[in-house]
Formats: sequence, structure tokens, C-alpha cells
Amino acid sequence: MSLLTVEHISKSFGGIKAVSDFSFQVGKGQIVSIIGPNGAGKTTVFNLLTGIYRPDTGSIRLDGEELVGLKPYQLIENGVARTFQNLRLFSELTVLENVMIGYQSRIHYSLWDSLLVTKKKRQGEAQAEDRAREIIERIGLSHQIDNDCKNLPYGMQKKVEIARAMVSEVKLVLLDEPAAGLNPSETAEMSDFIQRLKEWGYTVLLIEHDMNLVMKISDYIYVMNYGAELAGGLPAEIRSNPQVIEAYIGKGGVQRVLKSG
Ligand SMILES: Nc1ncnc2c1ncn2[C@@H]1O[C@H](COP(=O)(O)OP(=O)(O)O)[C@@H](O)[C@H]1O
Ligand SMILES: [Mg+2]
Repeated sequence: MSLLTVEHISKSFGGIKAVSDFSFQVGKGQIVSIIGPNGAGKTTVFNLLTGIYRPDTGSIRLDGEELVGLKPYQLIENGVARTFQNLRLFSELTVLENVMIGYQSRIHYSLWDSLLVTKKKRQGEAQAEDRAREIIERIGLSHQIDNDCKNLPYGMQKKVEIARAMVSEVKLVLLDEPAAGLNPSETAEMSDFIQRLKEWGYTVLLIEHDMNLVMKISDYIYVMNYGAELAGGLPAEIRSNPQVIEAYIGKGGVQRVLKSG
């Protein structure tokens, strides 16, 4: 059953067609990956899914509900959360505080609520803290809970960012290059971690350049090139697709990785 159904989305920036008539689906409980060369439009797809940009055309439905036109905070309420290609944590805040921020965005305070510490706000914070502690425990970072994020190894910081996306009641987690900048052992851990997200019931849409990781954990892969779908298929199909291999020729030896993966 499809959780996310994206049909014919397009987005131009001036003369650049960043995304062009792209359609795809993500089934409930699956890990689906979007791969493609730099500039293919992958991050723009995430920006469209999270309401940072509005598509020029097309529809984005989650559990049958249209998401186009919703604001980023409304999308979080509807169950879509993301991480960014470049880590966005508050390095001076603790692990707990960073994860709690993901929950805060779900709670509505009036201006007065935020000026005066009201009962509602205190309750909200207690709830956020409970939920954040639960998630941090689940991802195995309880021993770092009061540590400032800047003191953590990069691989752990990436997990904290994912925890922040998990803390709200999300259905769909969007991960933009979670293995970028990780060393091989951290990458292997990240791969296990994403598979655990699936076991915990999350649906994952992944953008990633590490082909070994993508081939290992994806249920389905879409290949983008020049804003459009070049191919879609199971990992084994994508790996042996001549068009895909062609699109990657000269792109830093990814072809070799595709074949060996
Ligand atoms: N805000 C923007 N303004 C102008 N051009 C953009 C913007 N965002 C993305 N683009 C352009 O859209 C294309 C796709 O970019 P992006 O989605 O970041 O690709 P990818 O994530 O696959 O590397 C690129 O040509 C990029 O320069
Ligand atoms: Mg990108």
C-alpha cells in the first residue's frame, strides 16, 4: 500500500527546471531511495515534500491527503519530517535539547503562552522531554543525553538529527545524504540504523550517494537525472540498468560501485 504518492511534480527556478514532471511512490514501511548525479533535483524533491517550495505543477499525497500548499509546520503535523544534507544541529545545545526542538514544532503556543510560562506550555515541555528521552534511549544515545552536540563524533550527531525528525509523530522520514561525511564504520552503523527505523515502523525516503548502502537497504530505487526519472526498480535492476550506468559515467567512478555493490 502506498503511503506517499507523488504525481507529475515540477519546479523551476528562473530558467532552471530543477524537477520536471517527476512521479514516484513510497509504500508504507518501505525504504525507498532517490539517487542521481549532483544537480539532478533530489534535494529539491525534499524541499517540495516539506513545503519549503511549492511545486509549479503536480500533487503530493500522504495517506490520500493532499500536501501541496501546506506550510512546513503543517507538514510535520501531517507526519512528514526530514534531515538536511548539511547537518543542522545547535552545537551548543545538548542532545536532549536538540531532540526536544523537533517536538516543539508540533505544539502551538499563542504569543501570550510564550511570554508567560503557562500551564499549557509547561505540560507541552514535559511531554516533549518524555518523548525525546524515549527516542534517545531507543537510538542508544542515553549516555550522551546531557552532552553538548559539538562534543559528539559526527556519526552520532547525524543520529541526533534523525532522532529530532523521529520525535514528532512522523510517518515518513526524509533523509538527505545521511552517510555524507561518515567514515566506513560510521556508514555501516548508519545503514543498520536506517534499517532499524524501518523495523520501528517508519517509512523512509532516502537520498544517498553511497551506492553500497543504497543497494543494501532499499526496497525500491528511483534514479533522477535532469529533474526527471531516468529509471525505477529493485536494487538488482538498477545496478544492471545500462541507462543508469551511462548516466553515471565520468561521475567519480560511481559506475564501478554500481556494478560491484
Ligand atoms: N533555490 C534555488 N534557486 C535556484 N536554483 C536552485 C535552487 N535549488 C536548487 N536549484 C537548482 O536546481 C537543480 C537541482 O538541485 P538539487 O535539487 O539541489 O540537486 P541534487 O540534490 O540532486 O544535487 C540544480 O541545478 C540547482 O542549482
Ligand atoms: Mg542534494
